[in-house]
Parts: sequence; structure tokens; C-alpha cells
Amino acid sequence: MIEVQKINAGYGRLHILFDVDMHVREKSVTVIVGPNGSGKSTLLKSIFGLTKIYSGVIKFDGENLVGLMPHQIARRGVAYLPQTDNVFANLTVRENLLMASYTLDKRVAEERLEEVLELFPMIKGFMNRKSGTLSGGERQMVAMAMALLRKPKIMMFDEPTGNLAPKLAMEVLAKIRELRDRLGITILLVEQNARRALEMGDYAYLLVSGRVAFEGRPQDLLGHAELSKLYLGISS
Ligand SMILES: Nc1ncnc2c1ncn2[C@@H]1O[C@H](COP(=O)(O)OP(=O)(O)O)[C@@H](O)[C@H]1O
Ligand SMILES: [Mg+2]
Repeated sequence: MIEVQKINAGYGRLHILFDVDMHVREKSVTVIVGPNGSGKSTLLKSIFGLTKIYSGVIKFDGENLVGLMPHQIARRGVAYLPQTDNVFANLTVRENLLMASYTLDKRVAEERLEEVLELFPMIKGFMNRKSGTLSGGERQMVAMAMALLRKPKIMMFDEPTGNLAPKLAMEVLAKIRELRDRLGITILLVEQNARRALEMGDYAYLLVSGRVAFEGRPQDLLGHAELSKLYLGISS
């Protein structure tokens, strides 16, 4: 569904990604892991049109995304949930959800909101709270709901469990899996907790210093004594 071909990208003249190739299969969960600063976030941002791309191609459903603006990429069915600032803190949850659906026809928006709240029933309990007062886990759920209102084909998550307690982190990851299983959404997931993410993924990439150091089955990366110890802090 997404095919990243020999991407070189960065910020201004600061070159971060080197000849990165990546394939994201439809309805799969593809996990990107790697040490801090290895370019994981930059790769997601590159797909979403937020970096400078020096060369390479990013195909989505056969079309090259390179050169398109983020809103054009979003319109094609790509959702990007950044690491932080994924909701408007000074708006209520309801207002955030309205904002996310403002381009939709009112009837459609209402229907979708109902569908989305079925997936995240807990949100009904805090619709009128200012989003800034939510816990990290609650805010992550709202951000996911906002993205879902636009019926994306693929969702890209940047460390969705970032500051969450282990139990909440598991819940968020379970929800992400549910999006794939119940709605058939393709998932591209960057995770800090490599083991947990690899255990739920179908395919894995290890980025080191802006290059792909491994690609393959998550079990094979977990089972790779050297790589997992050196770069993921996992000793088997
Ligand atoms: N907006 C930016 N401008 C300049 N350099 C950046 C920017 N964002 C990230 N970087 C740099 O790019 C490199 C890769 O960062 P990042 O993609 O965030 O890594 P990761 O997500 O794997 O921790 C780091 O050296 C970081 O300092
Ligand atoms: Mg990052």
C-alpha cells in the first residue's frame, strides 16, 4: 500500500534518512523501531510531506506522494498521529471531534461520530472536558477518534504509548490492533517499547542512523541476539 523507495530526506540541508526502502502491506501492522534519533519520526513525517525530500519516491496506492502538501496527503486517506500535540488542549473533547470532522457533511459527520464512539465508548464519559485535562491515555484515544472520523486507509502512529503506564500502553496498542482487525485499516507504528510493539506487528523495520539495518519478521528481529541487544536493549 505504501512503498518508500530509496528516500533521502531531512530538514533543510540536514540529511537524516539515507536510501530508505520500506514496504507497508495493506491491512498489516508494520512496526518501526530503533534507537533515539535514528530517524523514525522523520520517516513518518516524510511520508506525510513534512520534511525536505532530496530524492526517492513514496508511492501510496500507486501514486507518488513526494511533493504533495500534508493536507493533500491526508485527503488521500493517510492519517498521521504525531508524538505530541495531537489534540487541541484548550478545546473540549467534543470541540476537538467537531474540528476533526468540519470538512464532512453534517449528517455524515454525525453518523461517523456515532461509529467512532462505539469503538471508543469511554470518550462519551468526558465529551465536555477540556482536552488539556485528560490523562495521556485518554488523550491518545481522542486523537485516534479524531483521525478515524476521516476514514483513513492507513494510520501512522508515532510512539502512541509514549508517556503511558504499562497497563494503559497495552490498552492503546490493543485498540490499534482492533482498528486493523475490525476496520481493515493499515497501521504503521513507531514505538519506543520495541518488544511490545514487535510482539503485535506483522512486519518490522529497524532504523539505525537513518538507514534500514533490518527488515523482516518481528520474531526474527527479537530473536536476533546482536541487533536486539545493541539497538533495542533487549537481551534474549
Ligand atoms: N525539525 C527538525 N529540524 C532539524 N533536525 C531535526 C528535526 N527533527 C528531528 N531532527 C533531527 O533528526 C534526527 C532524527 O530525529 P527523529 O526522526 O526524531 O528520530 P527518532 O524519532 O528515531 O528518535 C535527530 O538527529 C534529530 O535531532
Ligand atoms: Mg521520534
